Amino acid sequence: MASATRAKIAVFISGSGTNMAALLYASRLEGAAYEIVLVASNVEGADGLKLAETEGVATFTHSHKGITREEQDAAMEEAAIKAGADYIVLAGYMRILSQGFVERWEGRMLNIHPSLLPKYKGLDTFARAIEAGDSHAGSSVHIVTHELDAGEVLAQVKVAIAPDDTPDTLAARVKIAEHQLYPRAVADYVSRGSDPEYLYAKVSKLALALPETHEKTSHGSPGFRVGTEKSGKFFAHFSQMHHGSQHIALLVKTGSMDELLTLVESQPEVYYKPDYYGASGWIGVILNRPGVDWDHVQDWLMRSWRAVAPARLTKLHDAANMF
Ligand code: GAR
Repeated sequence: MASATRAKIAVFISGSGTNMAALLYASRLEGAAYEIVLVASNVEGADGLKLAETEGVATFTHSHKGITREEQDAAMEEAAIKAGADYIVLAGYMRILSQGFVERWEGRMLNIHPSLLPKYKGLDTFARAIEAGDSHAGSSVHIVTHELDAGEVLAQVKVAIAPDDTPDTLAARVKIAEHQLYPRAVADYVSRGSDPEYLYAKVSKLALALPETHEKTSHGSPGFRVGTEKSGKFFAHFSQMHHGSQHIALLVKTGSMDELLTLVESQPEVYYKPDYYGASGWIGVILNRPGVDWDHVQDWLMRSWRAVAPARLTKLHDAANMF
């Protein structure tokens, strides 16, 4: 992601904030994918707050004592929104979050947990790994969901356990590993909307979930066909900055040139008329932009599939959808 469009993140901490510091210094490197717009804590005087202040980063503190979980979350959330955060990154924020808060930030909130998830959710992860005789401990970055430490794991780092390790000596090495892991994982996550591999994987999964489809390269780009390998017809193409275009896009069939031109004119941030394919009614749905609605992408794939699939398949599909 270009530095002009860096993602804005709010980091929540409860303790020493060394992971926050690692995130912060990584964000100061040339070409960083994100910037920290707020460091917020539920603990007054948390060490990490002082470091953030020294570095000129906005801070916010709101003690959780004597108030409900919802009230605490609302105060922290409001501060994050006011700071303009696109993402919330939890870095040793030792609070269970209320359901509404988690839901509102679904897909935009990450956490780091000091174990190789799904092993050892919750507390005392190092003692449990040593006790179990594991060869490795480690840390995981995951998406926050309503279930504790259970969201999709984005990245992990392994740390070997030495025979004489105590939970404290192991924790110290895991921290060093976390400081490498978290900045990279956050940067990858906030950049994935412009990563061709990620976008291709999403499109491919949706396209190949439709009945009797397969992938076939067309003019050097991945395409998706319905029907047999021999006589199938293309219903979608994945276009990665083709013919000098800046777009990574899904090309699908419109009903007419009129429809194509109307869509391009009314929503130029979403659609464009691709060179070459555009002449025969294919429209480009731009994927490398913020806030892509994947249900909308799926609707287009389905529509395009229906336009070229044999009647035998569309009838079956209609019948299946009636139930
Ligand atoms: C980190 O090791 C992090 O993995 C852990 O707290 C520590 C915070 O350290 N998080 C959890 O245990 C969450 N369940 P830091 O304040 O020095 O970054």
